Amino acid sequence: MAIITTEWTGKEYFQITELDHIEFYVGNAKQAVHYYRSAFGMQPFAYAGPETGQKDRVSYVLKQKKIFFVITTPLSSHHPATNWLATHGDGVRDIAFKVDCAQTAHDSCVSRGAESIHPSKSWGDSDGIYQKSAIKTYGDTIHSFVERKAYNGLWAPRYVPLKLPTIHSEDPGLLLIDHIVGNVEEGKMNDWRDFYENIFGFTNFVVFDENDISTKFSALKSRVMRSKNWKVKFPINEPASGLKKSQIEEYLDFNEGPGVQHIALLTDNIIKTITALRNNGVDFLYVPETYYDGLSNRVGDIDETLAPLKELGILVDRDDEGYLLQLFSKPVEDRPTLFYEIIQRKGSIGFGQGNFQALFESIEIEQEKRGNL
Ligand code: FE2
Repeated sequence: MAIITTEWTGKEYFQITELDHIEFYVGNAKQAVHYYRSAFGMQPFAYAGPETGQKDRVSYVLKQKKIFFVITTPLSSHHPATNWLATHGDGVRDIAFKVDCAQTAHDSCVSRGAESIHPSKSWGDSDGIYQKSAIKTYGDTIHSFVERKAYNGLWAPRYVPLKLPTIHSEDPGLLLIDHIVGNVEEGKMNDWRDFYENIFGFTNFVVFDENDISTKFSALKSRVMRSKNWKVKFPINEPASGLKKSQIEEYLDFNEGPGVQHIALLTDNIIKTITALRNNGVDFLYVPETYYDGLSNRVGDIDETLAPLKELGILVDRDDEGYLLQLFSKPVEDRPTLFYEIIQRKGSIGFGQGNFQALFESIEIEQEKRGNL
């Protein structure tokens, strides 16, 4: 039985305000930027590269409301991101937090056992001082701590406004990052729960296991960690044994280790959002038509009419607090690794556990086609 608790038992060792951005390492940022603009409606925001004094890599910052993506490509085989890309393929390198003090956040985490990537460093220009530190999390993923309180520039030193030719894309109206999910190896989920409890002081507020989510073939276990202010929610998945390879195992094989499995983006009008994303060419998981048989018996009364939900393939789930609507994209790389979730919350604080069964069946159809089941 899935357990959801709203009780806060964590400790605020240092103030976690909210997520600052997600940084992706990709093989060709120029083309990835085009994809995120045309498919997901992200807007050009800032740029750093050789022209601005950043010699070894290019980074494009894309924005949509409170969502910031930094898309980075190394410019030589000597940059560490080149090895990272050879191992993992395009994916999430950094889940960065906005903090009050980058040094305090870093030193506080390291004092409780976190592995440092780098202590706080300062960069300055005529707009002030920007500070950043970083620690390691699962796989080759890191958490940066970004301090901007003494910085009034656009993004960070060396970044200039990003100007690109106009493209045609429908605005999906995405608002913010709702949660970011990590996949870790079998038997490691509780270690990472402990990591987020001990290092960040987060609370484990959702627990589910293979009895909640399984098909005949595969299953998963998950623990969801959150910050005190609910702005940061990190589900951690591990595979559970099934007859055949689970989707989490497939991810771990192709990503060559743990990493970010999906990023959930929040909307306040999922019908408008999915319509726009589908028109922009985003490829979503197929939802079997039978999913909608008896949906109202499963979830009760909802504000939306069934026809557009069914037409767009939107999933619905209910918990004690309310309901949610969601849909999952197919992986956005050729390796079956990172994908996106679109979510609208109508009171629910869960993650759509009731949909995972339908979802797993759909994912397995795709896995089967790849010959990985
Ligand atoms: Fe999710």
